[in-house]
Amino acid sequence: MDHSIRLGFIGAGTAAEFMLQGLARGGYPANRAAVFDPDADRCGALRDILGVTVAESNQALLGAVDAVVLAVKPQMLEEVLEELETADMASPPLVISVAAGVRTGTLKRLLGEQWSVARVMPNTPAQLGAGISGVFVTPDASEQQRQVAFDFGMAAGDAVWIPEEALMDVVTAVSGSGPAYYFLLTEVLQRTAQELGLDPNTAARLASATALGAATMIDQTGQSPAILRERVTSPGGTTERALEILRNGGFESLFQEAVVGAAIRGRELAEDMED
Ligand SMILES: NC(=O)c1ccc[n+]([C@@H]2O[C@H](COP(=O)([O-])OP(=O)(O)OC[C@H]3O[C@@H](n4cnc5c(N)ncnc54)[C@H](OP(=O)(O)O)[C@@H]3O)[C@@H](O)[C@H]2O)c1
Repeated sequence: MDHSIRLGFIGAGTAAEFMLQGLARGGYPANRAAVFDPDADRCGALRDILGVTVAESNQALLGAVDAVVLAVKPQMLEEVLEELETADMASPPLVISVAAGVRTGTLKRLLGEQWSVARVMPNTPAQLGAGISGVFVTPDASEQQRQVAFDFGMAAGDAVWIPEEALMDVVTAVSGSGPAYYFLLTEVLQRTAQELGLDPNTAARLASATALGAATMIDQTGQSPAILRERVTSPGGTTERALEILRNGGFESLFQEAVVGAAIRGRELAEDMED
């Protein structure tokens, strides 16, 4: 993130904290960021941990920033946007929303057409700098605003541009909800290892190190997951037996159905917000 950019955070909860930590990890001076949250303790904690500036109100924060991050729960958005909408300013800052399932059209309807809006969808590994964000920006944003939105997304660890807003529901289903799919797989592996006789500690270590090892191979070998899977699968061996059982039980189509279901749910949530 360009050090001259002043960021404002509305809400000082979990998402604000991990994105600020990611920005600081990337060298952004956290004292260039301001936060406001009615919970003074949360603001105080971010000031003490990261050195951010604490604003007196959302309106006070607005006048002093180039981009404002809406880091509140979706049910609080409408109230916050009404507050911003009444702010009197010549050129409003870029608004960055990290809420799943809230469309830029909804945000612009509540704020006014003159506001440029970005949607950044980070996932929970962002807390460790190991996440990824999908980034979408409305076409009226300037080149500098597009860069600010992308650099903000990079605070998760990595970021990708999403060209059409409708695809943000797919991002939510794939990388937003995605960590839960891997957690479930690791839970089942761990539980089965125990049921087959391993002690809980050994079962947990084997399951989690295997998840990490497989992810690291996908990340670092440059090989596709399909090739890596084929290499572990010797004809007539143990892996082949396990994969055959998964396939015959409909695992692949069931999993695909689950991801499609998550994307549809994202679209439904966005439609509910528009009502
Ligand atoms: N947590 C994640 O891993 C994650 C990941 C990706 C995206 N997100 C998105 O990030 C957004 C925030 O989630 P979160 O988990 O960070 O929520 P959170 O921990 O509840 O933080 C939101 C904070 O905003 C405060 N707030 C409420 N009304 C406000 C107002 N009018 N002005 C300023 N601050 C206000 C809340 O205070 P009170 O508690 O007193 O209401 C709370 O401290 C959500 O849209 C969520 O979907 C979260």
